[in-house]
Amino acid sequence: MKTINLTVNGREFAGAPVEPRTQLADFLRDSLDLTGTHLGCEHGVCGACTLLIDGVPARSCITLAVACDGASVTTIEGMDDDDCMRALRAAFSREHALQCGYCTPGMLASARDVVLRMPDASEQDIRFAMSGNLCRCTGYVGIIKAIQSVIAERKAAGLGVVQNPRTELGPVGSGHARCSAAGHAGASIASRPQAVSTVKAAGTAGAAQAPAAPPAVRQSPADAGKPMTTLNQTFTVDFPRDEVWEFFGRLGEVTTCLPGASLLAPATETHVEPKLRIKVGPIVAEFEGAADVERDPANYTGTIFGSARDTRSSSATRGEIRYDLVEEKGGGATRVDVQVGFALTGSLAQFSRSSIVKDIAKRMTDAFAENLRARLSQARTGTPSDGTPAPVPQVSELNAGALVFSVLRDRIAALFRSLFGGRRG
Ligand code: FES
Ligand code: FES
Repeated sequence: MKTINLTVNGREFAGAPVEPRTQLADFLRDSLDLTGTHLGCEHGVCGACTLLIDGVPARSCITLAVACDGASVTTIEGMDDDDCMRALRAAFSREHALQCGYCTPGMLASARDVVLRMPDASEQDIRFAMSGNLCRCTGYVGIIKAIQSVIAERKAAGLGVVQNPRTELGPVGSGHARCSAAGHAGASIASRPQAVSTVKAAGTAGAAQAPAAPPAVRQSPADAGKPMTTLNQTFTVDFPRDEVWEFFGRLGEVTTCLPGASLLAPATETHVEPKLRIKVGPIVAEFEGAADVERDPANYTGTIFGSARDTRSSSATRGEIRYDLVEEKGGGATRVDVQVGFALTGSLAQFSRSSIVKDIAKRMTDAFAENLRARLSQARTGTPSDGTPAPVPQVSELNAGALVFSVLRDRIAALFRSLFGGRRG
C-alpha cells in the first residue's frame, strides 16, 4: 500500500492510502464515493471516465492513482460552479444531448476542453475533437449542437479565448507534481511538462495539424522508434497451396479482400496503393497509403511493408505483414499464418490497446478470409464473358466503433455466463 497526496475538487487529501495498481477512477469511486466518474470500457476507449488532471482531460480508467501524487483532480462533481460547465449542462438539456446519461460526465469534461481550447471550432473540428468520447444513445447530433451553441454564446459574450490554452494532447497523470490552488474547476487550463506527448494539438479551430508524412514505404518498423503492436492470425481455406499462392501474387485483388479497402491506382505485382475506410464513432477515417511486397516462392512466404495516413483524423500507421502458406489436409487445404506488426499514431491510436485490437483484428481476418474464399471460388469458375470479374460482396467501410461495442458486449456476456452459467439447470 502507498500513500498519496492530492487535491480532489479543491479538497486536499493528504496521505491517502492506495494500492499501486489502483486506477484513479476506482480510487475516486471506491475510496472517495465520487461516483460521477463513470466506467465504461476500462480500456481508455469510450471516454466515459474522462475528468481533469491539473486542468487537462484524462482517462481515469487507465491512469494509476499513484501517478497523480501531487496533482489536482477535478471530477464532474467538482464542476458545479464552473461557468463553462454550467452553460454546457444547460445546452446538453436544451439540445437533447443525452439519453441514459452514462457517457455524459466524460462527454462534458471533454466538451469543456473543446469550448475553452477551440473558440472558432467548426462542426468538423468539434466532431474530431470529441471523437474520443463514445455515446450509444444520442447519435452525437445533439452533443455537437450543444457544444456549438456554447461556443457561440461565449463568443457573443466576449469569452471566446482562455488564457494559457494547452498546445499538446496526450496522456497525463504522470511525471508531474503540480498541485496548485488554481488547478481545480474553473481555473484556466494548466500547462503540462513537455515531452509527455508526441501528438500535437489541433490548437484553435480550423488549424488541425496534419500528421507528419508517413515514413518511406520500405522503412523497417524497427527503425521507426515507436513500439509496434504485433498480432498473429491464422485461418484455413479449402484450396491447394499453389492456387492460394498464385492468388496472393495478385496484390490488388488480395488488398480488396480487406473490409473497407479499395485501390487508389492499379496495383502491380509488387506495389499497391490502397485506401481503407474505417468508421470510428462519429468520425470516418480514410487511410491512404502505399505498400511493397516481397515474395519467396521456395518457402511460400511473403512480406508486405506499408504506411498510410488519414488527414481527417490526423492519424498515421506503418507496419509490415508477413504471411506463410502451409499445406493441410494432404494438400487439399491451405493454412494462412499471418503476422502483423504495426504502429498507429494520432487520434485513432486510442484503439491500439492490444486486447481491443486483437478482437478487431480477428473479425477483420474472418472477413478477409471469407472474401478470399469467395475470390478463389470465383477464380475456379472463371470470369464472365466480358472479362470483368464479378464483384465480391464486401462492406464499404470497417465500422471499428461498432466492432468495439460488439467486443464489449461479447465480453460482458462472457462475464455473465461465467458468473451465472454454472448455476443453471
Ligand atoms: Fe475509461 Fe472507457 S472507461 S475510456
Ligand atoms: Fe447514453 Fe450517451 S447518453 S451513452
